[in-house]
Amino acid sequence: MNPSPFLLERYFARYEFNARYLLCSSDCESLAIADLLALEPGADDAFKRHWLGYTESLGAPSLRREIAKIYETIAPEHVLVHAGAQEAITLYMQAVLQPGDHVIVHWPGYQSLYEIARSLGADVSYWEARPENAWALNFDELKRIIRPDTRLIVINTPHNPTGWLMSRAEQTALSLFCRERGILLFSDEVYRELEHDPSDRLPAACDLDPNFTSLGVMSKTYGLAGLRIGWIATRDEDIYRKMAALKDYTTICNSAPSEFLAELALRHRQQLATRSLTIIQHNLALLDDFFTRRANLFAWVRPNAGPIAFPKLLQGEIDAFCDRLVNQSGVLLLPGSMYGHPGNNFRLGFARQNMPAALETFDQFLNSSAV
Ligand SMILES: Cc1ncc(COP(=O)(O)O)c(C=O)c1O
Repeated sequence: MNPSPFLLERYFARYEFNARYLLCSSDCESLAIADLLALEPGADDAFKRHWLGYTESLGAPSLRREIAKIYETIAPEHVLVHAGAQEAITLYMQAVLQPGDHVIVHWPGYQSLYEIARSLGADVSYWEARPENAWALNFDELKRIIRPDTRLIVINTPHNPTGWLMSRAEQTALSLFCRERGILLFSDEVYRELEHDPSDRLPAACDLDPNFTSLGVMSKTYGLAGLRIGWIATRDEDIYRKMAALKDYTTICNSAPSEFLAELALRHRQQLATRSLTIIQHNLALLDDFFTRRANLFAWVRPNAGPIAFPKLLQGEIDAFCDRLVNQSGVLLLPGSMYGHPGNNFRLGFARQNMPAALETFDQFLNSSAV
């Protein structure tokens, strides 16, 4: 496995800890450990007494029980806990793919969702989301790229970077499409529970079919990226077993303090998701106003889920624009080139508390500069 550099991670490595405003983060506003411990009486004391030995490789049983509650058909033995979603993506691809396998991946997207497959020798086709279709996936296009030997379809909804949420009808059609052909489905659901209208929430893919796998994480909806706790949920015993065996060669087991805190947080996940969604709704209203006023400069496709969107710059070149913006005003945007996307788009993140101040600074930059 020899993947190309992760462009988005390299970009963030340059700016994340020195730019004044991150206006492109994909995670929601974080909490401090003290905030989590305050959720339950006695948690503070229990945390201090929590044992720091090795933990169970599959994930603490009590944590897996809590994660299983997110789903309808999933038991704790269907949950495999990882160091973030990233480890789970890597191990899933290693578990299911052989060189030459055909894989279809939702694109543009989070780079590891296609890069790991490619680096394992898989033949990757992009299922491209297009702005003229409000970033929705087109099933006619899927029918054009499908092959008799397609082994896996990878989707991400709510989607990074566009904020597109698949409809229930589309999910049913995709599920049927995979089932009829015996194709595996890997569904990256790290932004699930951030539907802007909660009634739009989709069933988790792992609940639809035993061969489908759902990916979840503490980082996004619950604002707890620093825990580095993610998981897959699947009833596919073969995939589960292979991933568990691979984990012995990566992290072996998870961080004990992180498992404790993740389990505590998940007992209050509704509260944490509502907190994130409240910030998102507030900031989205500011963005509606901003993009209405700036319609000559940006094309805005309003997302229907998640903490990010992928607007287009209509004048000038996006990399140079982002570079000038961060250097002159300290506001960081993420150019679409970091997704290998040629459309002059950029990722905008709006789930941070200081987003109104960041947007205000961005606005001032636009007022003072010739774009
Ligand atoms: C769609 C998607 N999947 C997976 C991940 C990885 O999550 P984590 O960094 O928590 O491992 C991210 C992070 O940005 C993401 O956007």
